[in-house]
Amino acid sequence: MSITPLMPVYGRCEFRPVRGDHCHLIGEDGRRYLDFAAGIAVNILGHSHPGLIGAIQRQAETLMHVSNLYGSPQGERLAQRLVDLTFADTVFFTNSGAEAVECAIKTARAYHQHGGNDHKFELITFNNAFHGRTMGTISASSQEKMHKGFLPLLPGFRYVEFDDLDAAKAAIGPNTAGFLLEPIQGEGGIRTASDSFMHGLRALCDEQDLLLVLDEVQCGVARSGTFYAYEQYGIEPDILATAKGIGGGFPLGACLATEKAARGMVVGTHGSTYGGNPLAIAAGEAVLDAVGNEEFLAEVRALGDRLRGRLEQFIGNYPELFELVRGRGLMLGVKMKVEPRAFVAHLRDSHQLLTVSAGDNTLRIVPPLVIDDGHIDEFMDKLSAGAASYAAVEAPVS
Ligand SMILES: Cc1ncc(COP(=O)(O)O)c(C=O)c1O
Repeated sequence: MSITPLMPVYGRCEFRPVRGDHCHLIGEDGRRYLDFAAGIAVNILGHSHPGLIGAIQRQAETLMHVSNLYGSPQGERLAQRLVDLTFADTVFFTNSGAEAVECAIKTARAYHQHGGNDHKFELITFNNAFHGRTMGTISASSQEKMHKGFLPLLPGFRYVEFDDLDAAKAAIGPNTAGFLLEPIQGEGGIRTASDSFMHGLRALCDEQDLLLVLDEVQCGVARSGTFYAYEQYGIEPDILATAKGIGGGFPLGACLATEKAARGMVVGTHGSTYGGNPLAIAAGEAVLDAVGNEEFLAEVRALGDRLRGRLEQFIGNYPELFELVRGRGLMLGVKMKVEPRAFVAHLRDSHQLLTVSAGDNTLRIVPPLVIDDGHIDEFMDKLSAGAASYAAVEAPVS
């Protein structure tokens, strides 16, 4: 038998982390790595955060799991906090981002079907989007590499160019239920939707009774410098999927919706055995305790500005490697002139710096949100040493 016990769907590298220490990871061999990947934008409080550990420990000793058939004082509390912090009136808790997006898709379809418009089931989605790996969420993405081997896709999605309002408008037809998009595309390469695009989509939704569904699984929960990225556009969605950072590393996601958008989500229409169990909720509460306040968000913006400024200054030293810096808050990307995966591996293996590659040749920088200026200095030192050694040996002269 040649298959590995872990189903071989990931191209795992040789780094094998066994312990976390604030913004560093320690490998099996004892080496320390600066973690500016944060489990792909998950560990927003870093590793070994005392508040998060304490909350999980206390809750594990008290009550770990009960059925959603019972009342949930824990879930009600966290849902109320999210309602207070956002556009939403109601929340469904999930265990992952893809499940949060699935719930968002179902909520959008149910809105129209509850209103007697059974034909309005199609969501317009955007090229290079990533919404997860379930059948529904791969069907929502135009990326053929995720479809291969899993056909047929689910019907009900139409793809158009990201940030192209005319294309989005032209795609609206009798079956359209709404738009589903990431305000800042993560896997797609840290590509930020423009103000005019977001305002245009909101206006189209208002005019034509369509739903604006945001996937803030990656850019949400303080990462972009506001609690959710939509706040920076001065618009509100009807439905929003959130996950990753909201559990700080514990599996937790949620689908948030207005009362109107959630009109079809009545008893018996949706469910999850584990979704919103007390342990996950305790993690979510500890995360909100830390990040759900303006002081923390202002610090993320300030750190993001400083890191971005340093990156913008730095990339000019290697015009053969780097093109530009983009993103918001501590969700930054450096568009590279070379394929970024080998550079990410070089930073990791030769300089003990963890980053992630993303689409459109992007080096993705999504550190814990609790970094300080010392971590930014360490990051820039490692990045510059990595670029120097990479440019000397590997980079083709363009
Ligand atoms: C924008 C976005 N949506 C959905 C997902 C899927 O989340 P999960 O892997 O938790 O299912 C991701 C994961 O990277 C994501 O970045």
